[in-house]
Amino acid sequence: VAMWLPLCSTSRTACRRSYAAALLKCPRHWGNANASVFSHSAGPAARTSKALLFRKHGDPSHVVQLEDVELPPIGPTDVLVKMLAAPINPSDINMIQGTYAILPDLPAVGGNEGVAQIVEVGGQVTSLKAGDWVIPKDAGLGTWRTVAVLAEDDVISLPNDIPLLSAATLGVNPCTAFRMLSDFEDLKPGDSVIQNAANSGVGQAVIQIAAARGISTINVVRDRPEFTQLSDRLKAMGGTHVIKEEVLRRPEMKELFKICPKPKLALNGVGGNSATELLRHLQYGGSMVTYGGMAKKPVTVPVSALIFKDVKVRGFWVTQWKRDHSSDGKAFRAMLDELCLLVQQGQLTAPACTEVGLQDYSEALDTAMQPFTSAKQVLIM
Ligand SMILES: NC(=O)c1ccc[n+]([C@@H]2O[C@H](COP(=O)([O-])OP(=O)(O)OC[C@H]3O[C@@H](n4cnc5c(N)ncnc54)[C@H](OP(=O)(O)O)[C@@H]3O)[C@@H](O)[C@H]2O)c1
Repeated sequence: VAMWLPLCSTSRTACRRSYAAALLKCPRHWGNANASVFSHSAGPAARTSKALLFRKHGDPSHVVQLEDVELPPIGPTDVLVKMLAAPINPSDINMIQGTYAILPDLPAVGGNEGVAQIVEVGGQVTSLKAGDWVIPKDAGLGTWRTVAVLAEDDVISLPNDIPLLSAATLGVNPCTAFRMLSDFEDLKPGDSVIQNAANSGVGQAVIQIAAARGISTINVVRDRPEFTQLSDRLKAMGGTHVIKEEVLRRPEMKELFKICPKPKLALNGVGGNSATELLRHLQYGGSMVTYGGMAKKPVTVPVSALIFKDVKVRGFWVTQWKRDHSSDGKAFRAMLDELCLLVQQGQLTAPACTEVGLQDYSEALDTAMQPFTSAKQVLIM
């Protein structure tokens, strides 16, 4: 916990990133900010933000509330931002429930991802200017709020000519997809990748980034009444094959592998049986990368897959990747540039989204937790 959002005792950045700082007004940092030059600031008069806060862990629709939060003044290396849009991702839900790997000090503002526009910058800010679009560099920023004072170093810019929903959903899922397609197997055009939860935000990014690289995707989704519609949508965005979970065990798979090479890489966002079934179809020596556990069941690896196929069973967490590459930020910048280029070229679109006003958050949180929705809830501020 302390690692994630230490309160005011450590860095000013950490203080600002904690919503608690906004409420509790860390005196040390306020002192700094007040004494500092904030040439573009309107002054120390209190401004407020509307924010979706949780004061305890539990069911999101019960513990999250829309509240007014006082903002700290803008320090010399701070920026005042207006949040534009922020998605509700499974990790946001898990953080509120208290089941995620990193948890904020409470009370906390929900949301780890989203796009904001710079409104004002402190006098020593050099890398950003009013009008720029920015996204968080790390998890834990608390994006479900209307305005925020953030450290310049907490955010990274994006071009502001890409669609709003693409910008709001770029920093987590497409980055996860990008890294998993780049860092585990040497994939070449013509190779194939198999993935479950193919209709998830990550899955849709995998489909599109793989397609842009000439890599085929075998996309596994759970059956539903609108399966054909969903399959058509995933194929329209570049998915090569779309199959139902239960087909993974059937002889039809043999037919599929007559026209498609066995995958070098399996991407598992589900766990349980679904992961075991993906593993069975890997090439000799291939890798299965687990990045999510939507079924909340462990991954079972068949002994034969280890002995006779020497599969590699790996895991990936984009938050750790960002932290490991935070010292100079070049790798993150390069990845975002490449992803934004794909967006600008029309090769990477936002996942299917439902836009929801911030005040309708309760329904949005409930919807985000329902199965088979196939659309990401995005809060519009
Ligand atoms: N490791 C990382 O760095 C990283 C980064 C990003 C995301 N993630 C994780 O990746 C997963 C997907 O995130 P997202 O934002 O892409 O999700 P999302 O867009 O909200 O979609 C959720 C997906 O999970 C599926 N799903 C839900 N419950 C399921 C169950 N019981 N069994 C099988 N599938 C189920 C849904 O399929 P239906 O349509 O069939 O319900 C849908 O495909 C989450 O676990 C998230 O925490 C991890």
